[in-house]
Amino acid sequence: HDAVDVIRAKRDRRELSDAQIDWVIDAYTRGAVADEQMSALAMAILLNGMTHRETARWTTAMIASGERLDFSSLRSRSGGQRPTADKHSTGGVGDKITLPLAPLVAVFGVAVPQLSGRGLGHTGGTLDKLESIPGWRAALSNEEMMAQLDDVGAVICAAGAGLAPADKKLYALRDVTGTVEAIPLIASSIMSKKIAEGTGALVLDVKVGSGAFMKDEADARELAETMVALGQDAGVRTVALLTDMDTPLGLTAGNAIEVEESLEVLAGGGPEDVVALTVRLAEEMLEASGVQGDPAQALKDGRAMDVWRRMIAAQGGDPDAPLPRAKESETVYAPADGVLVGLDALSVGVAAWRLGAGRARKEDAVQAGAGVRLHAKPGATVRAGEPLMTLLTDTPERFGRAREALEGAVTIAPEGSRPATPLILDRIA
Ligand code: URA
Repeated sequence: HDAVDVIRAKRDRRELSDAQIDWVIDAYTRGAVADEQMSALAMAILLNGMTHRETARWTTAMIASGERLDFSSLRSRSGGQRPTADKHSTGGVGDKITLPLAPLVAVFGVAVPQLSGRGLGHTGGTLDKLESIPGWRAALSNEEMMAQLDDVGAVICAAGAGLAPADKKLYALRDVTGTVEAIPLIASSIMSKKIAEGTGALVLDVKVGSGAFMKDEADARELAETMVALGQDAGVRTVALLTDMDTPLGLTAGNAIEVEESLEVLAGGGPEDVVALTVRLAEEMLEASGVQGDPAQALKDGRAMDVWRRMIAAQGGDPDAPLPRAKESETVYAPADGVLVGLDALSVGVAAWRLGAGRARKEDAVQAGAGVRLHAKPGATVRAGEPLMTLLTDTPERFGRAREALEGAVTIAPEGSRPATPLILDRIA
């Protein structure tokens, strides 16, 4: 095989053969195909697409580049094989759902191996949020992960280096070559990691809107359908929800403040949208695992909180330690009387990022206390001059750029107006 032939084939809109795909992924992982060749191929795929067969083969080849985890030895209380379920969100603003969801689903005897990532641009990362808990550690060996799944039933940790190494290398390349936004590449990237992880059931939360990867519903739907088909082909029971990301989830976007909000949900309270999405995703994970249960009840009666505390402690975290707080704050006030009909997710995400909740370069550290706290959500009636948001940071020179990001983020309409967007737009199975 020759890399240039594979690039030419896709450039000229021909379908790649299984052998070409297997070879190019393997050779790229080994360093025998150069970065400039792979970036040309990624751009050809972005422009000319891949068929379902090509995308499925590409996914299989990326899985084969590394190890596969196997949870089949996990036992349930009755001695049978313990079901496993995972959730993946395509990323949003204020999306802390994994934090209450993983322990919630584990309440019902389903093991939740939640491999998570760090923040990317304006979207937050589950690991960054959890690292605001004193002592908590994201990196576990496969053996530690297995032991925790057996004992606690839920683990949220970083994916090990052995899982889909082809994707790690390719994703970093796509990030700097304008080739992230290709549906076959996104779908195969996400699904190769989830299939290699070995989960039995997978629920995808595909975000749509200004704060999401996919700004429009048709693209989000195509991504969801592609991923559901890839999961089902690989024997993973996969369903997807399309959910709104035009406005942030909940009332917090940051790290420690999102942990704090997750604790409210685990204590039976918390913002309505965060609770509704957590419960719905838990119901989907239980259904896909063939397990009965009432997740709303397990939030109210403290069972999910019990699992949370054990899950955090098992990874070195102190569930009772006070969370870090930002040193400085500033308030953003409502500019007029009326109904808040729009609060733009992307603007809030960029503001939180600039305040220090996210990173500018991969090597940067995030500020645990930084972020944006919202005091009103779309649908609320507001009065001119009342607090709409609090900006939080340790480094006050960041307030100016955060305020710039928020220009035009707030839409207030005359009283009687109602914002229209539902939280859950569709279900794809
Ligand atoms: N997340 C991933 O893991 N891969 C992509 O390609 C895009 C988002």
